[in-house]
Amino acid sequence: MSLHKLIQDAVTYIKEKSRISPSIGIISGSGWDLTGLLDNIEEIHYKEIPGFPRATVEGHKGRAISGVYRGIHVIILQGRVHYYEGYSMEEITFPVAVLAELGVKNMIITNAAGGMRPYLKPGDFMVITDHINLMGINPLRGFVSREGYTRFVDMSEAYDKGLISKVLKLGANMGITIHCGVLAAVPGPSYETQAEIQMLRIMGADAVCMSTIPEVVMSRYLGMSVLGISFITNCVAGPSAPSLRHEDVVKTVESCSKDVCRLISAVIENMPR
Ligand code: HPA
Repeated sequence: MSLHKLIQDAVTYIKEKSRISPSIGIISGSGWDLTGLLDNIEEIHYKEIPGFPRATVEGHKGRAISGVYRGIHVIILQGRVHYYEGYSMEEITFPVAVLAELGVKNMIITNAAGGMRPYLKPGDFMVITDHINLMGINPLRGFVSREGYTRFVDMSEAYDKGLISKVLKLGANMGITIHCGVLAAVPGPSYETQAEIQMLRIMGADAVCMSTIPEVVMSRYLGMSVLGISFITNCVAGPSAPSLRHEDVVKTVESCSKDVCRLISAVIENMPR
C-alpha cells in the first residue's frame, strides 16, 4: 500500500472517532500525562490506527488523544517510537504526516533529554532553539517528495522564533524556569560516553536525546511551525555525573507532569490560530 494511502486511512479513522479538526498537535515525551488538559477527550490507541507504529519501550504509552482546550482543537500523541527500537524513519515520522493531513499547523514536540551544561538540572525545561542531527540518518532520505513540497527543506530557522519568545515569557510569568539551548540527537540506545559528551559540548549542543529531530524535520517539510521543549531528566555534564538508568529518567519525567501541563496549556492558549 502506498504511504499516501496509509496516511489517508489513518486520517479517516481518527476523524471518524474524534470529530475534531485540530490546529495544534503535540507529541509528548515519555511519561507525561497531558490528558487532563483537554475536554471532550477521545482516546485512540495507536494499535487501532491504520499504519501507526506501536511503542516497545516502558514509559512510552501509545495513544492519540484528541480534545478541546478552551475552544481550540488539539491532538496529543502520547508516546512515540524511537530509532533505537529498530523502527525506520518512515515509521517514526508517520504520525507527524498524519497530523499534518489532519490540518495541524503548529506542532509542539517535547522530549526527555540529558543536560550537558552545569546550569541544566534535572527537572528544568529547555526550549529548543536549534538542533544537531547526529542520528546518522534523515527522515527525508528517499522520501518521495510530494507536489508542492521541496525535499531540500530550509532548516535555518527550524524552531519558530515567535513561539520560542512566547514560551519564555509565559514561563517567566508562571515562575517556571525555562532555559534556551541546542539539542543534539543520537541514535542510542546506549547513553553517551564521557568522550562523546565532551564532543557534543564542543559542537555546541546543550542537551542530548534519542528522538525528536526526525519529527521536527518532517514537520518542517510539511510546512508546520515547530515549538520544541526538552525536559532535562539527568545531568551529563562531567565525570562526577551519576550513572544513568532508564527508570530514573522516566521517574523524573513523571514527577514534573504538573508543570508541564501548566506550561503547555498556556502555550496552547497563546498559539496563533
Ligand atoms: N542521553 C541521551 N538521551 C537521553 C538522555 C541522555 O543522557 N537523557 C534522556 N534522554
